[in-house]
Amino acid sequence: MTGNRSRVALSVEDLRVHYHTERGAIRAVEGVSFDLLAGERLGLVGESGSGKTTTAMALMRLIRPPGRIESGRAQLGDLELLSLSDEQMRQARFAHISLIPQGVMNSLNPVMRVGAQIADTIQAHEQGPGGEKMRARVSDLLSLVELDPDTAQMYPHELSGGMKQRVGMAISVALRPQVIIADEPTSALDVVVQKRVMDTLFRVQGELDAAVILVGHDMGLMAQCVDRLGVMYAGRLVELGPVQQLLEQPLHPYTRLLVSSLPSLDRRGEFRGIPGLPPSLLDPPAGCPFHPRCPEAIDGCTTKIPGLTTVVADDDSARIERRAACHLHTGVTS
Ligand SMILES: Nc1ncnc2c1ncn2[C@@H]1O[C@H](COP(=O)(O)OP(=O)(O)OP(=O)(O)O)[C@@H](O)[C@H]1O
Ligand SMILES: [Mg+2]
Repeated sequence: MTGNRSRVALSVEDLRVHYHTERGAIRAVEGVSFDLLAGERLGLVGESGSGKTTTAMALMRLIRPPGRIESGRAQLGDLELLSLSDEQMRQARFAHISLIPQGVMNSLNPVMRVGAQIADTIQAHEQGPGGEKMRARVSDLLSLVELDPDTAQMYPHELSGGMKQRVGMAISVALRPQVIIADEPTSALDVVVQKRVMDTLFRVQGELDAAVILVGHDMGLMAQCVDRLGVMYAGRLVELGPVQQLLEQPLHPYTRLLVSSLPSLDRRGEFRGIPGLPPSLLDPPAGCPFHPRCPEAIDGCTTKIPGLTTVVADDDSARIERRAACHLHTGVTS
C-alpha cells in the first residue's frame, strides 16, 4: 500500500477465455474488466470453477490449448500484454508481471537444487550474471523471502511446504515485477504457516512497490489482507469494491449469500459456497448467470445479462468505487 494508489498498474478490459472441448466451448472467463491500482492488493474470490485461475493464466499469457483468449486487453504501463508477440511476452513475464501459480510447491523441479532453479529464471531473462554475482543474487532473494541463504543448496524434498512456497515466491519476484499474481498461495498450508507466508508476500510487495492480485477462497484472509475485493461467478466479475464495505454491505445477491454463509465471528473461515450449483459454462442460462439461484431475481434477470456498472462513486477515485453486475442496481448512483 505504497505510492499513489489511484494510479493504475494494470487495466484489464473485456477479457474472455474459452476452452474448446469436444462437448463445446467452456466459457471460463466471459467479459472480465477491472483496474489494478499501483501498490494495491486486490483479492479475487469465487467458487471453484468460477474462472479465477483462468483469469490469472490469461494475464500471464499461459493459456494452453484447448484454451484460447478470445478477446480482451490488459494494459500494463506501455505494454498491452494480450497483443505482445510470444517472445515479447516471454520477456515481460517475471520482469513486469509474475505469477505464483496455484500449487507452486509441487511444480518445483525435484532433481534441481533450489538455488539453481532461482538462477535459471534470472538467466532466462538477463545475459551475464554468473558465478559469485549470481550466488549473491540468489542469496539476496532467499533472504527477501525469509529463507536461509543455505537453502540454495537444498532440493525441494528437503523443504517444508511453507519453505517451498517461499522458494516459489523467490522465483516469481526474482526480476522485480510491478504486478504479482498469487493464486491460492497458502491454501495447502496450515493456518500459522499461512499467516507467515502471507506476511512475507506483503513485505516483498512493499519492497518491490508492486501491486498484488491475490486469488483465494478464504474470505477471512481476504478481509485481513486486501484493499479491494472482486467476486467472480461463472466466469464473470459480479462485484468489485473496497473489501470492508463489500463484506459489510454487499451489493450483489450472490455476494450477500456468500457473506451470510460465513461464520459470523469477524467473518473468518473458508468460503464454502452457497446452496445450488453454478451454471454450466458450456451452455449458460440466458440472462444473468446467477438468476437460477438468486432469491431476488426480477423480470429482466432471465433475459438480459447485467454488465458490471458503478453503483457507488463519491468522486473519481477507483479506490472507493463500488461496482456490481446486477439489475437491482442498474442505473443507480449515489
Ligand atoms: N484445460 C482445461 N480444459 C477444459 N476446461 C478447463 C481447463 N482448465 C479449466 N477449465 C474449466 O474452466 C473453468 C474455470 O476454471 P478455473 O480453473 O479458472 O477456476 P478457478 O476459479 O480457478 O477454480 P478453483 O477455485 O477450483 O481453483 C472450469 O469450468 C474448468 O473446468
Ligand atoms: Mg484456481
